[in-house]
Amino acid sequence: MFADEPAPEAPAVVTTGTLFGVGMGPGDPDYLTVRAVRVLERAPILVHFCKKGRRGNARTIADAVLRDPAREFPLVYPYTTELAPDDATYVSALAGFYDDAAARLADHLGAGRDVAILSEGDPFFYGSFMHLWRRLKDRFPVEVVPGVTGMSGCWTRAGTPITWGDDVLTVLPATLPHAALAERLRGTDAAVVMKLGRHLPKVRAALSEAGLLDRAVYVERGTMAGEKVIPLAGKPDDEAPYFSMVLVPGEGRRP
Ligand SMILES: C[S@@+](CC[C@H](N)C(=O)[O-])C[C@H]1O[C@@H](n2cnc3c(N)ncnc32)[C@H](O)[C@@H]1O
Repeated sequence: MFADEPAPEAPAVVTTGTLFGVGMGPGDPDYLTVRAVRVLERAPILVHFCKKGRRGNARTIADAVLRDPAREFPLVYPYTTELAPDDATYVSALAGFYDDAAARLADHLGAGRDVAILSEGDPFFYGSFMHLWRRLKDRFPVEVVPGVTGMSGCWTRAGTPITWGDDVLTVLPATLPHAALAERLRGTDAAVVMKLGRHLPKVRAALSEAGLLDRAVYVERGTMAGEKVIPLAGKPDDEAPYFSMVLVPGEGRRP
């Protein structure tokens, strides 16, 4: 361009939106962080994961602060517990689900709209958010808002410190095979066993084998309506919903 030529109009700059992963805490909305509430109030697209025909728990927590359902963007899982996590059909359906969801969210982000993904507990701790974060993080700005984890809410409600002194804490998904659970439990001072569901009998047996059954506490829906806290040894059945875990408090140095 010559110097005396009139400058063309600057092309409109489209700023992309930010992808937020919002930690929604363990259930009681009083445990939402100030930053989480600020993001929930402002983001034009509020994403939550849910089962078909159900409301996601993260969305239910948000009821305490949201007055604008028009911004909701539910992502309905193709499967949850119907198939084993290593079943090829499950793996490929879930990969397709996350690819498709990421593409839909990328359209909003690319058009300059902020997208907040509501995530139970902390987004970077076994969170579904991570599968979308992985697909979108190199293309859009990201902010992760940390949350109070479910396990933190559970040991708070159980009224038990989880680690003392040099205690080693092991976090285990109950989906591991029995032998792996027992071995890990034998080698730790304190434990959190998550994702119980139909695996509770196996977890109970592994705890017993590791000599930890008497210290184990079962917590269901910690900090939410319908919360239950029971010593595992005294729990008469093996029913455990999705939001439940077993805690084994450490007994380390206590001067
Ligand atoms: C996929 S993980 C998600 C963890 C979550 N991102 C967090 O930071 O706690 C889901 C598991 O977390 C545990 N969980 C989360 N919140 C809970 C709560 N309030 N009460 C009991 N268990 C909870 C359950 O074991 C459940 O199966």
